[in-house]
Amino acid sequence: MTQPSVSTLFLTGAGRGIGRATALELAVRGYRLGLMDRDAGGLRELSEQLRALGAIHAISTVDVSDLNRIKSSAAELEDRVGPPDVLVACAGVGGLTLLPDLQPYALRSMLEINVVGVANAIDAVLPGMIARKSGHLVGISSVAGYRGMPWMAAYSASKAALTTYLEGLRPALKRRGVTITTVYPGFVRTAMTAETPFRRPIRMMEPEQAASYLVRAIERRPRDFVFPLGTAVGMGFLRRMPGRVYDWMMDRAGPEALTVDF
Ligand SMILES: NC(=O)c1ccc[n+]([C@@H]2O[C@H](COP(=O)([O-])OP(=O)(O)OC[C@H]3O[C@@H](n4cnc5c(N)ncnc54)[C@H](OP(=O)(O)O)[C@@H]3O)[C@@H](O)[C@H]2O)c1
Repeated sequence: MTQPSVSTLFLTGAGRGIGRATALELAVRGYRLGLMDRDAGGLRELSEQLRALGAIHAISTVDVSDLNRIKSSAAELEDRVGPPDVLVACAGVGGLTLLPDLQPYALRSMLEINVVGVANAIDAVLPGMIARKSGHLVGISSVAGYRGMPWMAAYSASKAALTTYLEGLRPALKRRGVTITTVYPGFVRTAMTAETPFRRPIRMMEPEQAASYLVRAIERRPRDFVFPLGTAVGMGFLRRMPGRVYDWMMDRAGPEALTVDF
């Protein structure tokens, strides 16, 4: 078993998908884990898997959009596994934005979970990290936040907001000994992507592959971490494209992408 460079890590969104796969990978590497999710069943299943691996861990059922609850959750976890050296804020929700019904409440929910939920999780662990003058915050953004994606305007907006929020926090936290890494995964085969009715099969990573990339980001502490390489190159190109060229491309590529109209 590889000795981790840090000992205790808190992770939100651990109940399934990328979060669960990451928790299992971290357990194998010897981390002590404090795991949060709103899905109690998913957390219980994960806890059984971790027990079988002999991992030191504790779970707490919490909705990240509830600041008071996440603060008490973090305090409970800290009592059980120790103060966190790392927080991975992975809990997030997706969804399509389809015309003519824009469903603005879906946008509100994505902002509450994908942006405010991450801020809440950070707020819950930050006083301790600042007092210890050390810590690593890892936010899971998305390449979908690079540009406004035609069928996921709300999700794109929430991830763009998260990226900017973390960037804004970076200098003040650095002065206090706390590092921020923003992670931008490409497509991963999880419940979130299963909901998207793509017209053609899309190449996706398995959650275990995403987890091994994420562990690299946790251990190397880069400013930004985009994976896999093909996505980093392709989406990097799209990100720098002039607005009019991007619109032209999306006018053509967009309607071809899904089996539903948007
Ligand atoms: N899959 C991708 O292709 C992809 C690509 C780029 C970025 N990401 C990001 O990666 C992260 C994980 O995504 P995933 O694909 O693994 O999604 P997932 O399979 O849907 O897992 C997300 C987990 O977060 C939990 N969660 C959602 N809202 C929560 C809340 N308010 N409080 C606490 N827990 C909450 C979910 O619980 P429920 O089961 O109750 O919803 C679920 O257990 C997200 O931030 C996502 O935006 C995913």
